[in-house]
Amino acid sequence: MQKYLHILDDNDFNIFKEIESLREKIILEDINIEVMDFGAGNPDENRSAKQMHNGVTKNVSTKDLCKIGLKNDFAHLIYAIIKKHQPSTVLELGTCCGFSSIYMSKALKDGACIHTIEGSPKTAIIAQKNFKDIDSLNVNSYVGRFSDVLPEILPNIKAIDFAFIDGHHDRDATLEYFEIIKPYLSKDAIVLFDDISWSKGMTEAWETIKKDDSICSYKDYQKVGLCFMGDN
Ligand SMILES: C[S@@+](CC[C@H](N)C(=O)[O-])C[C@H]1O[C@@H](n2cnc3c(N)ncnc32)[C@H](O)[C@@H]1O
Repeated sequence: MQKYLHILDDNDFNIFKEIESLREKIILEDINIEVMDFGAGNPDENRSAKQMHNGVTKNVSTKDLCKIGLKNDFAHLIYAIIKKHQPSTVLELGTCCGFSSIYMSKALKDGACIHTIEGSPKTAIIAQKNFKDIDSLNVNSYVGRFSDVLPEILPNIKAIDFAFIDGHHDRDATLEYFEIIKPYLSKDAIVLFDDISWSKGMTEAWETIKKDDSICSYKDYQKVGLCFMGDN
């Protein structure tokens, strides 16, 4: 991880402070919203494919919702990966309140863009407001199930240089999303998987992905797994 984190400078840490102040603001607002969850739920929940397809509604406070996702070293890591490799097109599965998108957005150069997908409409509204408030205008937000949105957008966006898979957290679904996006990855693309040890299923998914013939090399950071599709 140090390979990436050592490239960060004072200016980057000022950006991180700005992003985390936005998160703090939402934590203080603490509003209750109804979210639609198309994911696996908890590591030991064993939701069926049908349950995940139909989605599960639950009430969540924005305080808890905006604590989900990459933080601290892992948020700095994704920023540093983007800063180092400068992808032109980024795809993210799992926007939540938009914080990982914002970290990536702030590391990108002008002209590059992020496509991020979120299944829960009310969560996506929070993310979209955050993108505006923090001036992350290079983020395109899509609302819907990954399985519905991906076939609509993939043929119409530029080749993906960096993909961040951070939603659903089910073994079969994770492997399926990887297969779906593979034909749309650029030659030297990088794919980052979050929560690779979150559940037995995610551990199995990561074990399968690591052995995939299309991958040139990978790095295992215990919580996240990084795949290089070409010689980086
Ligand atoms: C772990 S959170 C994303 C966190 C975010 N990437 C971050 O680091 O700030 C996962 C998000 O994916 C969404 N999600 C899960 N399964 C989904 C699916 N099948 N289709 C669309 N959205 C899904 C959830 O609603 C949730 O907001």
